Amino acid sequence: MGRNPRPQHFLVVGLRRLVETIDMANEPYFPGLEGVIAGETAISSIEGELRYRGYSVSELAGSATFLEVASLLLHGELPTSETLADFQSVLSEAAELPDPVRTLLEEIPVHVDSMDVLRTGVSALAQFDPQCDEEGRDADLNKATRLLAQIPLIVAARYRMMQGYPPVESKPELGFAANLLWMLTGKEPSLLHERAMDVSLILYAEHEFNASTFAARVVTSTGSDMYSAITAAIGALKGPLHGGANERVLEVLKEVQEMGDAEAWVREALAKKRRIMGFGHRVYKNGDPRAVILRGYCRELAEESGDMEMEEIADTIERIVRTEKGLPPNLDWPSARLYHAMGLEPEVFTPLFVVSRVVGWAAHVLEQSESNRLIRPRSRYNGPAKRKFVPLAQRD
Ligand SMILES: CC(C)(COP(=O)(O)OP(=O)(O)OC[C@H]1O[C@@H](n2cnc3c(N)ncnc32)[C@H](O)[C@@H]1OP(=O)(O)O)[C@@H](O)C(=O)NCCC(=O)NCCS
Repeated sequence: MGRNPRPQHFLVVGLRRLVETIDMANEPYFPGLEGVIAGETAISSIEGELRYRGYSVSELAGSATFLEVASLLLHGELPTSETLADFQSVLSEAAELPDPVRTLLEEIPVHVDSMDVLRTGVSALAQFDPQCDEEGRDADLNKATRLLAQIPLIVAARYRMMQGYPPVESKPELGFAANLLWMLTGKEPSLLHERAMDVSLILYAEHEFNASTFAARVVTSTGSDMYSAITAAIGALKGPLHGGANERVLEVLKEVQEMGDAEAWVREALAKKRRIMGFGHRVYKNGDPRAVILRGYCRELAEESGDMEMEEIADTIERIVRTEKGLPPNLDWPSARLYHAMGLEPEVFTPLFVVSRVVGWAAHVLEQSESNRLIRPRSRYNGPAKRKFVPLAQRD
């Protein structure tokens, strides 16, 4: 049995709290929360190597499918053949968009950014989910599964609309990655394209307390619902310093292709202190292991097509950014080339990140809900000192 604290204890705690509220200037402060441990998680770790629930991501990318990984992240364990088949059939049943959501997607003008459309679409899905405000693990798992099934439909329908084509019906029997490519392009993919897409989805699925996941956890910590958390996460992912980097990488590669001299381009960009999209990482200072895995697939796809130009441009930029700035590439560097080699346009690159990362976000929403405390940090005030209010009439 614990001892009762003495009255002095309360005095000390009370005084410390008082001091904390008035003396924030002396509290340690880490811009961008760099290095700050903001919570605990059992979903993934990036110490030493990236692991999802204890499994090395290189091993998962080498031998598992995205759906096995999705099941692992959401349920905590790798599925058996039977539980995987159940998961697949639940996903197939959920793979339908409510008519008003389809209409909404058609109504949004084609020039609107595809991440904005996806954010709106996911928010709208909440209104048609009978369990939207239902609390508890089972309800949240159902919502997560429905999102995993419906987000690819929104992404594909909107993408085809932007390309001027009608949507194609989902064919879940093809498997998750092949069906995704089918719905985007209207063509059944080769085995290599299917596997490359699957691996990219595995690599994008989860990454502990990145900005969008943290946004989802903050929303969840207030007691809000899964859809609100995922909508906020999509908003955070859209930014070019996070998920939005992959589509900008292709803009860079095309710019360099047009200019025709990768070395001159990159040296000039660095001299002008331009931020090179797809390089650098808040946590991986010596290299992003996911980028190494995906680069192998970029090679295979380029060799298959017989067109190595983008790979050669990428190699030159990579070599110079590494030597001049010490910055290795992150996952968005090869993923842009990979999706481009599959014939996809850049406006779908960041939405494809969402197709996968929704699994990681949902796993974090579940984890936060199960062991919740409101996330509410403090700030260090750097505005004007206390000043006297002057009424409007005396301000001229
Ligand atoms: C990911 C990223 C935001 C991490 O940044 P961070 O840890 O906050 O590091 P900072 O933004 O503070 O950058 C530190 C230094 O490296 C430089 N730097 C970082 N990434 C750079 C990049 N991609 N190109 C050029 N310089 C870069 C910064 O200019 C800064 O230099 P300085 O100290 O001379 O001003 C950053 O590397 C970046 O903007 N990368 C490009 C976008 C991207 O690929 N995002 C996807 C991430 S997975």
